[in-house]
Amino acid sequence: MEFSKRISTLQPSAIREILKVTQDPSVISFAAGNPSPLSFPSVEMAEIAKDIFENNYATALQYGISEGYAPLRELAKDRLMEKYNTGSEDDDLIIVSGGQQGIELAAKVFLNEGDTIISEVPSFVGALNAFRSYNVNLVGVPMESDGMDMNRLEMELKSQKNVKLVYVIPTFQNPSGRTMSLEKRKRLLELADKYNFLIIEDSPYFELRYSGEYVPTIKSLDKNQRVIYVGSYSKILSPGIRVGLVLAPKAITQKMVVAKQVSDVHTNLFFMMIVAEFLKRHDIDLHIQKIRALYKQKRDLMLSAIGQNFDRRVKVERPDGGLFLWCELPEGYDGAELCRLAGGYKVAAVPGVSFETDETRVSPGFRLNFSLPTEEQIKTGIELMAKAIKTYLG
Ligand SMILES: Cc1ncc(COP(=O)(O)O)c(C=O)c1O
Repeated sequence: MEFSKRISTLQPSAIREILKVTQDPSVISFAAGNPSPLSFPSVEMAEIAKDIFENNYATALQYGISEGYAPLRELAKDRLMEKYNTGSEDDDLIIVSGGQQGIELAAKVFLNEGDTIISEVPSFVGALNAFRSYNVNLVGVPMESDGMDMNRLEMELKSQKNVKLVYVIPTFQNPSGRTMSLEKRKRLLELADKYNFLIIEDSPYFELRYSGEYVPTIKSLDKNQRVIYVGSYSKILSPGIRVGLVLAPKAITQKMVVAKQVSDVHTNLFFMMIVAEFLKRHDIDLHIQKIRALYKQKRDLMLSAIGQNFDRRVKVERPDGGLFLWCELPEGYDGAELCRLAGGYKVAAVPGVSFETDETRVSPGFRLNFSLPTEEQIKTGIELMAKAIKTYLG
């Protein structure tokens, strides 16, 4: 069969092969990006769900508007504005089917074939694939420990044609766990003005902080309507409900709504109502505090198991939040080869090549998830990973 060009380049088969091992239940997987089921407020949601079906089913089971359930839009916008000084009267907040859809809609409304979009490297493969599916010129700029290399970015801005968007995950980045410094956030906004591009600020993890100090969102520093802010309830309530948000200047959200109409009409109304009621009836900050405590413990446990077991030549970063640890093998070694070997030891991780804008590059990196595995799995899995590393590095 001949599929469209935009779809046929997605997902190199090598990675699929490596990740196949995760289907074997005896394999300990650090490969997923999933939250822990212990973080889902299932009891509260069950109560709300029953209430909606008994008392408000006529709304929940009916068509809705593409912008999303109005009470949720208002609650979400108020919370971002009041708690994080993010958004203004010139912005609109729409509900999307996960942050993934927000990213995809941003690409859809701005990118023509051949236009340039710049991303951090490494970066979230879901976003990179969304961009690739529009046949654009996807350019990667390497990250430093405090975020994208801004000098390299400026070089690319000077040399690339039609740079419409720069995509960043500034806080607890996926996969690196890194956070962009305040200075770089300001510099990025200055560059956006100078070179006339928009910034997609993708931030599904920023509330999951376990150490260090809060850094303001790029959107909160934006005076010139340069930022499309994408948020998500996936990591603080549940990913299965597929509820995320886009906060952006009204002219942009209006176009996104038109694009969303032809995509899924609107996000699942029942789950938008559940989130709205959760925000009304419960203290989401308290709920997030509990998740932070749970994940902090897991992060620290994984770091300490790594300290005890991994070859010292492997560089492991300590993220201040999020769901992932980023590791790098010494120069010349390939993270994909390690992940292949790890499968044989019944442990899985995602090779760095999956997060590259240029998938032909050999990446020494690999990503470990600590939110989903149990403490026992973390301890055993890291020992197994250490064995695979020993076999590879010798
Ligand atoms: C950086 C980043 N952005 C966006 C998403 C999409 O999340 P969702 O569509 O569930 O909101 C993810 C999911 O893993 C992610 O890591």
